[in-house]
Amino acid sequence: MTAEIIEGKAIAAGIRGELRDRVERLAKLTVRPGLAVVLVGNNPASESYVRGKTQAAQELGLAGETIRLAADSTQEHVLGLVADLNADPRYHGILVQLPLPGGLDERATVEAIHPEKDVDGLHPVNMGRLLRGEPGPRPCTPLGVQQMLVRSGHSPEGKRVAIVGRGILVGKPLAAILMQKAPGADATVTVCHSRTPDLPAALRSADIVVAAIGVACFVTADMVRPGAVVVDVGINRVADPSRKSGYRIVGDVDFETVREVASAITPVPGGVGPLTVTMLLVNTVAAAERAVGLHA
Ligand code: GUN
Repeated sequence: MTAEIIEGKAIAAGIRGELRDRVERLAKLTVRPGLAVVLVGNNPASESYVRGKTQAAQELGLAGETIRLAADSTQEHVLGLVADLNADPRYHGILVQLPLPGGLDERATVEAIHPEKDVDGLHPVNMGRLLRGEPGPRPCTPLGVQQMLVRSGHSPEGKRVAIVGRGILVGKPLAAILMQKAPGADATVTVCHSRTPDLPAALRSADIVVAAIGVACFVTADMVRPGAVVVDVGINRVADPSRKSGYRIVGDVDFETVREVASAITPVPGGVGPLTVTMLLVNTVAAAERAVGLHA
């Protein structure tokens, strides 16, 4: 079997099309959703992600802006900027790109963002809402994984899902989203990590495998049940002297071997990445709708 490729770009384009109608409805109320993306320092990967986020916001007609701070900024400076953005009515959404340079407190920074402007869904209040099944912004990458599955005809409802990785950006919130009693969820979720006994066997028991561990090509064909659906969240730079840049991007899944056993698989790049950015736009438009009393 050679797997169907789940094209993230096409799914993302569909969602962005739906968002245009919501942006137009807001425009009639003279509201333009605004997104402030904060980049502290100059981590090359973060630079590229931030550029993509701000550009996508602008392409949709949102007020998207990147605000840059020097790598040696103090914690007070970062918190001062977040406080200003919380108070600025032009911005319905604030995102501080992680990781922050050493010496800065990520937890204090995320907690300083007003929960209603937390379009990353990472504030403890929004994480609590997620776990309780209450409405609120959800973290973008897990939301994107769910949308990819549902919109490609591989809904997790009633399925066994194994997630590799228990990080706060993907693994933990994705488990909470997919175990929810809700359409597009209702899955039986196993979260696997470095202390999981017989991790390959745990993955082989799953109908859907999601790799979010941050290790290049970690998931190999022997870990995937024939016919399973595989979602690759990884973005890893590996050295490639044949490229001008000197590197190429690979996922957490060994794509070439796993595509021979899976029934469907997401590529890297062009898989989950476009969905992450799109769900940030969804969260920003929803925040603007809430701010003017429209139901998201
Ligand atoms: N760095 C990598 N992924 C993310 C994300 O989803 N949000 C933020 N703020 N930083 C990230």
